[in-house]
Amino acid sequence: MPELVNDASKQIWEQDLRHNLHPFTEFPSFNEKGALIIESGDGNNIKDSNGQTYLDAIGGLWCTNIGLGNKEMADAIAEQVKKLAYSSIFTDMSNEPAALLSAKIASLAPGDLNRVHFATGGSTAVDSAFRLVHYYQGCQGNPEKIHVIARHQAYHGSTYAAMSLGRKKTDRTSQFHFITDIIHHISAPDQYRAPEGMNEDEYCDHLVKEFENKIAEIGEDKVGGFIAEPIMGAGGVLVPPKGYLKRFRDICKTHDILYISDEVVTGFGRLGHWFASESVFDFVPDIITSAKGLSSGYLPISAMIYSDRVHEVISEGQGNGYFPHGFTYSGHPVCCVAALKNIEIIKRENILQNVREVGPYFGEQLRKLRDLPLVGDVRGMGLMRCVENVMNKQTKECFPEEVQIGKRISDVAEELGLLVRPVGHLNIMSPGLTLTREQVDEIVDKLGRAIERVNSELIREGWNPC
Ligand SMILES: Cc1ncc(COP(=O)(O)O)c(C=O)c1O
Repeated sequence: MPELVNDASKQIWEQDLRHNLHPFTEFPSFNEKGALIIESGDGNNIKDSNGQTYLDAIGGLWCTNIGLGNKEMADAIAEQVKKLAYSSIFTDMSNEPAALLSAKIASLAPGDLNRVHFATGGSTAVDSAFRLVHYYQGCQGNPEKIHVIARHQAYHGSTYAAMSLGRKKTDRTSQFHFITDIIHHISAPDQYRAPEGMNEDEYCDHLVKEFENKIAEIGEDKVGGFIAEPIMGAGGVLVPPKGYLKRFRDICKTHDILYISDEVVTGFGRLGHWFASESVFDFVPDIITSAKGLSSGYLPISAMIYSDRVHEVISEGQGNGYFPHGFTYSGHPVCCVAALKNIEIIKRENILQNVREVGPYFGEQLRKLRDLPLVGDVRGMGLMRCVENVMNKQTKECFPEEVQIGKRISDVAEELGLLVRPVGHLNIMSPGLTLTREQVDEIVDKLGRAIERVNSELIREGWNPC
């Protein structure tokens, strides 16, 4: 048990340990150390039950975009709870916040993506998109066009379909079952680990070819959808080669494959725009999934946004006039009010502009860590960044998994008052979008010190990082 200041904190820590199954728990370390109990938050800082404060460079979980403790948001939520805490939007009922939010999102989304289906989180938005692919293709008279292509290292959520679309090695434990008959995977665009001697354009050609080959292998008449995050997040903040996403989009168009752009992380400001697909990567998908930044984590809500073209097919095509999909909390009025308020705050406070200014500074400062031992690569865009730690910078060889290099570094950073996310050998950062230059300096300083300390420890333990 960690040293906790008082009996109440100890009790909470113990109750959590005994009763709370945490998402993605690593049982051996959890059973020994339990959880860090967070008590309060203000802006980009959080405080634990011992009173220690941390700069949260994880942004909750890529989601505290406007920052914690926003009183205006709290008041808006409280008012809506008093006015109408719940009402269903099934079939032909709606509520004012859901109607207003659907129109607001349509006005921010690219192209003719003017239709919105509300869900409860990123996973359920992805699940909805997966099902929409099937429904759309069925309405087109293509009931066999139900195969979906996704990418290795992707993370699309934790429902059965979303986890099957994802393909992070660590999520693929043999005890779980995955959909494998109609979901297929191709390579992730990992520029740091691209085949030796390929430049960016050649690597892009290589990945495009692999996609075309996969479509041909499954059969053009069977592939109904493709899903990709604009920048792969949990898979390692992988920025694709120039032109890659647009070329994939064009291929999808040619074969009537619905392109799902999973903007659960990038949506609502992380790259300095409401959505990254068109504004950053110059393409308009058929479907966008968004969550996290939509309410800045204040309440759980997500939106699957899709095109008028697709809507025409499902509402007027060969469907039976009935769309049997949705959730009790779809269009929850309080969550919708939180999202509307969030969008209002992002606009009024020029938060997208802040990302466009502070994001590049963050990248610049972070790249200085490349000179440190262990640091193989530093990459990212906007307020989505990653440090890849390696044992050998020349060969890019990683430490064996049991070294838990990412976790060791994040543990030391935590001691120094900084939270960064360990994912295997990576340390990932996705802070709130109100991040200041001073906070960037603090992140880089503390992360740098954590890396240096872990490097010294490893040398003492007989490792030879080089
Ligand atoms: C790209 C992407 N899609 C989907 C999800 C799933 O979102 P949620 O955890 O809200 O279900 C995540 C979560 O991190 C994500 O990063």
